[in-house]
Amino acid sequence: MARPAARLTPPAIRDRKGGEPIVCLTAYTTPVAKLVDEHCDLILVGDSLGMVVYGLPSTIGVTMEMMIAHGQAAMRGSSRACVVVDMPFGSYEESPEQAMRNAARIMTETGCAAVKLEGGEIMAPTIRFLTERSVPVMAHIGLHPQAVNTFGGYKVQGRDEASRAQVLADAKTVADAGAFSVVIEKTAEDISRAITEGVPIPSVGIGASAACDGQILVVDDILGMFTDFRPKFAKPYAELGAAAGEAIKAYAEDVRARRFPGPEHVFGAKKG
Ligand code: KIV
Repeated sequence: MARPAARLTPPAIRDRKGGEPIVCLTAYTTPVAKLVDEHCDLILVGDSLGMVVYGLPSTIGVTMEMMIAHGQAAMRGSSRACVVVDMPFGSYEESPEQAMRNAARIMTETGCAAVKLEGGEIMAPTIRFLTERSVPVMAHIGLHPQAVNTFGGYKVQGRDEASRAQVLADAKTVADAGAFSVVIEKTAEDISRAITEGVPIPSVGIGASAACDGQILVVDDILGMFTDFRPKFAKPYAELGAAAGEAIKAYAEDVRARRFPGPEHVFGAKKG
């Protein structure tokens, strides 16, 4: 499909329900956003940057300041994709008013089009409050990485009847509350299909099978740049981390052997 010159908007993403798959990736920096913008419909400035960029053990320590700085960087590197910025842990759960204050700050300081927040039924009143006040919201259900301490790990969701019913109810309530799309993380194919068929907004899967309206992955995972761990669902399309390691090794060897800099890298003395 020919890509429009103007930035894709949250309503345009919503209208893709049931159509051509929606292609999404994370980006946290200007150069990576430039690469992703060329090929993707939606850029997520995910709070996964806590682990990928800052070396934190989880997304729990990510701050508003980090999200805003990286949101600004991703906006500077993109002109066509719809940019969504994650609301970090602790910035929205207390009340709809707290969520509104922080979502407005993220949107005004970065220029992004929408925010993403984790949680299903429990967050529906907050999603409604935001969407009724001009904040487009992407919901995130299934596994919520910010709830790693209550989930007790990054486990596949919906494996028993009660948890399956909860994930399905979460999808319905976030859609009813006005979310323009919903990320489904780490659910089995039958649940993802039931959600995709059961809600009027696009489902965007991560570890949720092809039975979704779109897919999202962490860009560093598909590039082989983040190797601390590799989730089963993250297909590596390149091994840039290994290639970068080789390049750095070659540079270090050249410097130690006085092979770098060569004559072509050296400035001549000024004549006259
Ligand atoms: O933080 C993140 O990167 C996410 C995923 C859905 C990719 O939330």
